[in-house]
Amino acid sequence: MARLLVTGGKRLVGEVPINGAKNSVLALMVTAALGQGESVIDNVPYDRDVATMSTILKELGVRVAFEPPHRLRIDGSQLNRSTAPYEPVRQMRASFYVAGLLLARLGKAEVPLPGGCQLGSRPVDFHLRGFEALGAKVQIEHGFMKAEAPRLRGTSIFINRSSVGTTVNLMLAASLADGVTVLENAAKEPEIVDQAILLNQMGARVRGAGTDVIRIEGVPQLHPAEHTAIPDRIEAGTYMMAAAITGGRIVLEDVEWEHFRTPVVKLQEAGVRIERVGPTQVLVESPVNLSRDVRLRPVDVETAPYPGFPTDLQQPLVALLTLADGTSVVRETIFDRFRYVDELRRMGADVRVERDTAVVRGVRRLTGAPVEAMDLRAGAALVIAALAAEGQTRISGVELIDRGYEHIEAKLNALGADVVRVDDEGAPASATPPASLASAQSEPSMSTNTSLPAPNPSQA
Ligand code: UD1
Repeated sequence: MARLLVTGGKRLVGEVPINGAKNSVLALMVTAALGQGESVIDNVPYDRDVATMSTILKELGVRVAFEPPHRLRIDGSQLNRSTAPYEPVRQMRASFYVAGLLLARLGKAEVPLPGGCQLGSRPVDFHLRGFEALGAKVQIEHGFMKAEAPRLRGTSIFINRSSVGTTVNLMLAASLADGVTVLENAAKEPEIVDQAILLNQMGARVRGAGTDVIRIEGVPQLHPAEHTAIPDRIEAGTYMMAAAITGGRIVLEDVEWEHFRTPVVKLQEAGVRIERVGPTQVLVESPVNLSRDVRLRPVDVETAPYPGFPTDLQQPLVALLTLADGTSVVRETIFDRFRYVDELRRMGADVRVERDTAVVRGVRRLTGAPVEAMDLRAGAALVIAALAAEGQTRISGVELIDRGYEHIEAKLNALGADVVRVDDEGAPASATPPASLASAQSEPSMSTNTSLPAPNPSQA
């Protein structure tokens, strides 16, 4: 297991390119596989979740070719297996999207139920009810969802609460169903709009994505298309907080300002200067100077579906607020997502959690400690805390961070941080920028079945 050794106290300065949105790309990959022929997705982040989805789709007979640094070619014409593999599906909740794909294309799907994880229970009951409403017979057997529907039929579906995954899955299924499906109380996240854009480019008829009512008129078949994924608003938010906690001044490149208005407002409230300085550039400038006791103001935040404050930035935000000048209250309304605060406490943070609420009393200093990333965003939070902590923090569980951040240490070091990746024996493994990883790929051929390898930070 790799670790990150972070020596804190360095101010982040410079420009940081933001990748395409991992969560969007996961949905886009499955959407592309609905089509007959080779679709192209650009702006694909080179991270572990994308690699996992690639593995799953290939097991189903989909051709997936990664063309470094950031392009995927996906061809679903040969999709022929209706049973999804257990191991990779278990690792990642988004892999349940293949249920919608398989039902739409093959009329049956056997997909392992996503297991529990560090975020607590994460059910898929809304997905299953949606498939049933579309006419599928759904059963749970031996840990698998088994669903069958020779023909899916469009209908109106009210989704109990705003759910990204359910909306993605039902849009997939409804696109090839007979008749019209109306999704009410649909998720409004930018990733949903991105998926609808690709679907429509493939010949689907989807209207209303980005509002809470989405209307999908089924078509008999979808053709290939080309699409560029939206920027990753969560990665952008993570770097904003990294700059904020170190008193840094950075420019986020290739971002979509409209997609992270709530985090921007909250950080501004805390005293961080954030401005749009170009069509896709955002300046983040922080007044923090711990040695002079210049700290951010505390803020109260509640997570909510888009356009509210994203749950995926709750952990990084709490890390930032541990050094604020006062007490912040952070309420988590989406997932059970506070277990990581024990790790922050090991670094000297004062965070008390009661049910869904964290009370964060700002302290003057954090100190480096051995800590463990328990999930992807908890890992990001520990990196943020470590950047401002005195001395060295050793973060284990880096593989979880790699699920959603392409070469985090390379990007941070380019901004002046001191982050070293070491292997399980403690030997340094150099940070590899995506471009050199790309050139290390032997067969970037477009038509081959090249797999997307897991990021290998030790590659030169
Ligand atoms: C997606 C994101 C994840 C983000 C989350 C909320 C991807 C790959 N992942 O996850 O990063 O944190 O949205 O913005 O895009 N729920 C049920 N039953 C269901 C489905 C959901 O009870 O069948 C509940 C969940 O437990 C949660 C809430 O609904 O409390 C929202 O979950 P959902 O939006 O579905 O999250 P994901 O799609 O899994």
